[in-house]
Amino acid sequence: MKKEEFSLKNDLIGNLPILPQSFWNLVKLYQKKELDCKKLKLLLFEDVCLCIKALSEINSVEDRKHPFGSFDQALESLDLEHFMIKSLSSPLHHLNSEETIWLSQFNQRSLVTGLACRFIGEEKGCPDLEELYLCGLLHDSGMLFLKTSFPEEYSLVLEKKNNGEKLSKIEKETLATNHLEFGEEAIKNWSFPKNLKKAIKSHEDYMEEDLEPSEQVARIVSVAEQISEILFVEAEHQAIDDLFRSWENNLKLPSGFFNRIHSRLMDEIKTRAVQHQNVPEDLTETVLQAHSIMSGLYQTCEEKTREKFRGLTRKNEEERKKAELESLKVILATFSHYINNATTSIMGRSQLIDIAIKRGEIKDESGKVSNSMKIIQQGVETITAVLNGLKKLDSFKTVRYHERSNIIDLRDKIEIKGL
Ligand SMILES: [Fe+2]
Ligand SMILES: [Fe+2]
Repeated sequence: MKKEEFSLKNDLIGNLPILPQSFWNLVKLYQKKELDCKKLKLLLFEDVCLCIKALSEINSVEDRKHPFGSFDQALESLDLEHFMIKSLSSPLHHLNSEETIWLSQFNQRSLVTGLACRFIGEEKGCPDLEELYLCGLLHDSGMLFLKTSFPEEYSLVLEKKNNGEKLSKIEKETLATNHLEFGEEAIKNWSFPKNLKKAIKSHEDYMEEDLEPSEQVARIVSVAEQISEILFVEAEHQAIDDLFRSWENNLKLPSGFFNRIHSRLMDEIKTRAVQHQNVPEDLTETVLQAHSIMSGLYQTCEEKTREKFRGLTRKNEEERKKAELESLKVILATFSHYINNATTSIMGRSQLIDIAIKRGEIKDESGKVSNSMKIIQQGVETITAVLNGLKKLDSFKTVRYHERSNIIDLRDKIEIKGL
């Protein structure tokens, strides 16, 4: 089986683990009925996996006609119940487990990359700083997808990485793909955020001089990623200064810019470390609360789905009736055209015969001819009434006529003399 197929067959995004603090915050905010778009956005911007889950929901909206103009607009289309179920049923590791520690470090680097992207974007006057932040935050999503799909193989990859080898090269050797390719493949159907696919695929190509202006986001992300590396790894001062200067030249930024954002980023890391302190180490109680929230949400989702299905059935029925009526009108117009010609001449002739009887040109002492003419004229009037009645129909039902055929029920629609 090809690796791409593997990722599609499994619920790749559903299986991504979220951070304990995100889980705890989601439960608390939902219970207090305080989970509005603004608060949810803050949570999504702090947790890579949670953000991927929301974007996967947002990108799955089928009947969307225009691309989203902003993250706030995209968030309004999010099915909150569905998102909550998917998030609260994510794998959750103990706060101090090896997995959570790795995930927190990964998240922290991604977050710093996102912040660095935003700071660079501010300086360069980029129009959409939130998009830039998201591209930075999610640039390494491929690592999470690979780790979730191939946990054992990926542990080997990470072990080798600790020996100083380049990550994407080790991934390729071990898994025949890397986090750039695999990340892009996993989100290939997403149309929002617009530049995310490029940022995921090209965040290692920052040194290429001839990048198109449309690759600007990927270029910023790759520099931002390296700042986040520097922040967490001990390095010699001179080497860092040289790197900063080369990036400033590459991105056409003022001298000393990266020294300034280096300290801003350090401050952001410290602030977040303090914020996470109030998350309890034992989340058993929170998990139980999440289960009760989820059972309520399942019910709401089920009712919504049923209502949607009922609406669809109603809509289909209405559309079928509309199409039937349209066909009837076309057939009717054709019939009317030929029948009206014939009835006009029948009526004309019978009236001429009436006149001839009155003038004595035709002898009708018994009144038989005159009565026959009356019956003929009544018949023509009935035909005209039926045609006019059919023309005015805005809906119709049929009644059994013969064993194998139905006729349109006109009994309440038109008044027919003699019937
Ligand atoms: Fe990367
Ligand atoms: Fe990275």
